[in-house]
Amino acid sequence: MHDRLFIPGHVEVRPELLQAVASPQVGHRTKAYTDMHAALIPQLKQILYTQQEVLLFTCSATGVMEGSIRNLCQKKVLTTVNGAFSKRWFQIAGYNGFQADKLEVEWGKAVMPEAVDKALATGQYDVFCAVFNETSTGTRAPLEQYAEVLKKYPDVMFCVDAVSAMAGDKIETDKLGLDVCLAGTQKCWGLPTGICVTMISNKAMERAAQAKAPGYYVNFVDAKKYNDKHQTPHTPAIPLIFGLSAQANHILNVEGLENRWARHLEMARIVRKWALDSGFEMLPEKGYESVTLSCIKNTKKIDVKALNGELSKRHHCIISNGYGDLKDLTFRIAHMADTSVAEIKQLLTWIDEIIA
Ligand SMILES: Cc1ncc(COP(=O)(O)O)c(C=O)c1O
Repeated sequence: MHDRLFIPGHVEVRPELLQAVASPQVGHRTKAYTDMHAALIPQLKQILYTQQEVLLFTCSATGVMEGSIRNLCQKKVLTTVNGAFSKRWFQIAGYNGFQADKLEVEWGKAVMPEAVDKALATGQYDVFCAVFNETSTGTRAPLEQYAEVLKKYPDVMFCVDAVSAMAGDKIETDKLGLDVCLAGTQKCWGLPTGICVTMISNKAMERAAQAKAPGYYVNFVDAKKYNDKHQTPHTPAIPLIFGLSAQANHILNVEGLENRWARHLEMARIVRKWALDSGFEMLPEKGYESVTLSCIKNTKKIDVKALNGELSKRHHCIISNGYGDLKDLTFRIAHMADTSVAEIKQLLTWIDEIIA
């Protein structure tokens, strides 16, 4: 029996989705494929609240983070840094030879919109990158407030890594004025890894068309050209696209969007209350806690490794330790994808029994 994952990605994949992923293969230039692709994209647009482009890239999210900078930056990148993955935006810019500045705060805190405004007002930047849901700290960025600031700077591309939030936490991409919003399939989408679902604005497509060296593999203009024909430029991870089609149907027609957002919020509230009632503290500052994963300060100094050993042995499930420097100081419980409220309650009961 496998361990059920309550870690912030990968996640438990429903048997129906595993079955969809294992469908007999089709060629990626066939009618069978284009029919599936053509049906899927409008569904993804609904889930992302966009009427602009949604493109599928066969790579993990980092590939499209890199592609976004290469396709969109002509001047300089500004990024928030409050955890491991927002730091990645900054590193990607540097590795690709772009100039970048970071607005850095302590892990667990959110970068304030005023700081973003002050930096963008210098006029140095044409790309602003943020992570909506810092998986390393369970901190949720104030996206609506950033969106208000970005309205003042229409030439700045607003790129959001929504890796551990998309399909679990509501993101109204068009209303927020996002230019890129991306996520891999192995977190709230509830699938194995392999595809990066990417919303791209029309404005970003225009900018990408002027890029001097956008790169070949994650090339927004080429990807759109093929997407218009319901295909991808290169061979896509078709098993994942079967899975994504099944999951998009489930989200829209079985669970319902608002129910999905509400379930994630309910699970988050249950875990936060449990943590505080049990004498722990939340790592993220109050008001900025993630809806899809809880990062809990290990104030009671429980042995997380031993806890996980027992969870695995007795109940075939595991949670996650902290990330990076927070490895021994925090632990993380994911409540994302298709996890139910009942499963989360059961998990917390098991943890209580083991640490008692
Ligand atoms: C918020 C966030 N951004 C980016 C990534 C990188 O994703 P990948 O390693 O799948 O490319 C992760 C992975 O956990 C993440 O949680």
